[in-house]
Amino acid sequence: MENNCAVILAGGEGTRMHSQKPKVMAELLFRPMIDRVIDAAREAGVHDLCVVTGYRADLLEAHLAGKTETVRQEQRLGTGHAVMQATDFITRHKYGNVLILNGDAPFIDSKTIRDALLYHTSNSFVQTVISAKVDNPFGYGRIVRDKNGDFTAITEEASATDEVKRISEINSGAMWFNAAALLDLLPRITNDNSKGEYYLTDTVQLARDAGLRVGAFTADNADAVLGANTRVQLMELGEMLRKKILIRLMESGVSIPCTDGVLIDDKAEIGPDTVILPGTIIKEGCRIGAGCTVGPNTVLYKTAVGDDCVLNSVQAEEAVVGNGVNLGPFVHLRPNTVLHDGVHCGNFVEVKNSVVGEKTAISHLTYVGDSDVGSGVNFGCGVVTVNFNGKTKNRCVIGNDAFIGCNTNLIAPVEIAERAYTAAGSTITDNVPADALAIARQKQVNKENWVIRRKPYREKKK
Ligand code: UD1
Ligand code: CA
Repeated sequence: MENNCAVILAGGEGTRMHSQKPKVMAELLFRPMIDRVIDAAREAGVHDLCVVTGYRADLLEAHLAGKTETVRQEQRLGTGHAVMQATDFITRHKYGNVLILNGDAPFIDSKTIRDALLYHTSNSFVQTVISAKVDNPFGYGRIVRDKNGDFTAITEEASATDEVKRISEINSGAMWFNAAALLDLLPRITNDNSKGEYYLTDTVQLARDAGLRVGAFTADNADAVLGANTRVQLMELGEMLRKKILIRLMESGVSIPCTDGVLIDDKAEIGPDTVILPGTIIKEGCRIGAGCTVGPNTVLYKTAVGDDCVLNSVQAEEAVVGNGVNLGPFVHLRPNTVLHDGVHCGNFVEVKNSVVGEKTAISHLTYVGDSDVGSGVNFGCGVVTVNFNGKTKNRCVIGNDAFIGCNTNLIAPVEIAERAYTAAGSTITDNVPADALAIARQKQVNKENWVIRRKPYREKKK
């Protein structure tokens, strides 16, 4: 599809979203609608993309920087006017076909796009509109056909007669054009209608008037046309997508006994016999192995988890977790954390930018940051790696089978060598050699009969 390109219309304000952001940036399961539309085009093999921006163009252009070309539509004068802004872009692709997509119709899929192109080229149409039959056509442009079933026009809701309003086949907004024909048709669109807008849909009539062939490709996937104009519709589309993803996962062997509060990104990979419990949110870039229990109340982002792990009330970002790792309740893994097989992190443990070796146990109330921890290490309750001195971050190194006593502060940079112990309550500032015990705290003093001597202070107030 080297000669083909796409123009994505995204200039609209989306008044009914009541947002400071362009409508197409509203998120559907963690991803802006526009990104889903772009992905569909790319998956269909269309890689040269131009997005028409308008309302809060600055935000959209920043979002798309390095991903697609953009062109600005300074005034929103309709979908035809929006495509006119991309004339230079289309001219650069004038020997191919141009795909037009609506940035606010996030369910358009690559198969529909490809099938429509095949229909378009094999019938030598200059324009092929992707249509669908829907239960409630209100608000959409209707696909008008003649007695023979041949596609003749698109009539917008505002201009439709009662008879046309009853047509259930609608314009998805997505369509293929022969690029040269589109360049020819664009300047002929007028704003001679009740809204005073330049309707892209007028090209159907204009092409037919010029004796050119047009077609409507009815998509199997009727959802491909759905758009979100309000946050309620956004939620409804989100629910449709969420359910579809959860069903696909269940069909592949993942158990989700109760789907309440379970939101999973469509690209997440989850192995069979893994159980997902309520309140679990799995965002982009996650891979989870087989036989795990994830949740309740677990949030993962760009995190890989091996097989047979338990993640109970865990928050993890950009972390890698091995096999047989047991986490929670209430564990936070921050970016650049690697936990090897069999690690255990228990109540209120935070790990950041650290590698933790096999079977190390960090069971309670502990912070491990910027550290290289060996295997078989035991952390007592309340250990803190003191990694920041106010100016620089420094690393702690802890050897295999070391034993860090309760309430130890490890002042980085510092190294605890293999099998060494630190006494509970120690603040360790110097390296500890292998097999040594480090005690870094005041020796205990017992003052005999101190209470009896100070008795007045203990008398109860009346
Ligand atoms: C449009 C179609 C309608 C179709 C429907 C499908 C026209 C005239 N109507 O109607 O037939 O059934 O989509 O959802 O094309 N946009 C701009 N600049 C503008 C106007 C719109 O960039 O000046 C963008 C919007 O951001 C949006 C897309 O074009 O992404 C569609 O515009 P919208 O106003 O939502 O069109 P509809 O009234 O839904
Ligand atoms: Ca719309």
